[in-house]
Amino acid sequence: MSSSDALSENQGRVKPDAESNGTRRDFLNEIAAAALGVAGLGATVVTVKYLSPNVLFEPPTQFRAGAADDFPVNSVTYIRDQQVYIVRMSAGFYAVSAVCTHLGCITQWKAEENQISCPCHGSKFSREGAKLAGPAPRALPHFAVRLAPDGQLVVDKLEIVKETQVLKV
Ligand code: FES
Repeated sequence: MSSSDALSENQGRVKPDAESNGTRRDFLNEIAAAALGVAGLGATVVTVKYLSPNVLFEPPTQFRAGAADDFPVNSVTYIRDQQVYIVRMSAGFYAVSAVCTHLGCITQWKAEENQISCPCHGSKFSREGAKLAGPAPRALPHFAVRLAPDGQLVVDKLEIVKETQVLKV
């Protein structure tokens, strides 16, 4: 065997090792890049979450219940999304909470019985919200009602008023 034959034989052996090392290195580089990418993405998510305000979105406590003229005299209208009854009597308007004062169930207006009834434990209230029967500890609270310049009723659920307070229209 000549020296040039041995050299070319050695080169022939070295070449596949270099290629396989290159492939292994590339593979490890790809794994490292993927791991860095995942770590970077995780860090970005955590940072964005940390920087964004931790705000609890609640519905506004003031709402427009509708045009005063749309409520007939001697009516009780349930505003479902606000859980409030708008009551119109000949004396005027008032707004009564529909949330039972016992354990917070949503009451129902029973026109045939002329009273507000709680389906959970049987408390009963008059249309004015006064407690008539059941385990509820107190009457349903009244909320402030105002008339906006455009003729809409505006109820403020943060402002509790006396049950004798009526909006005259
Ligand atoms: S929650 Fe209404 S009576 Fe208990």
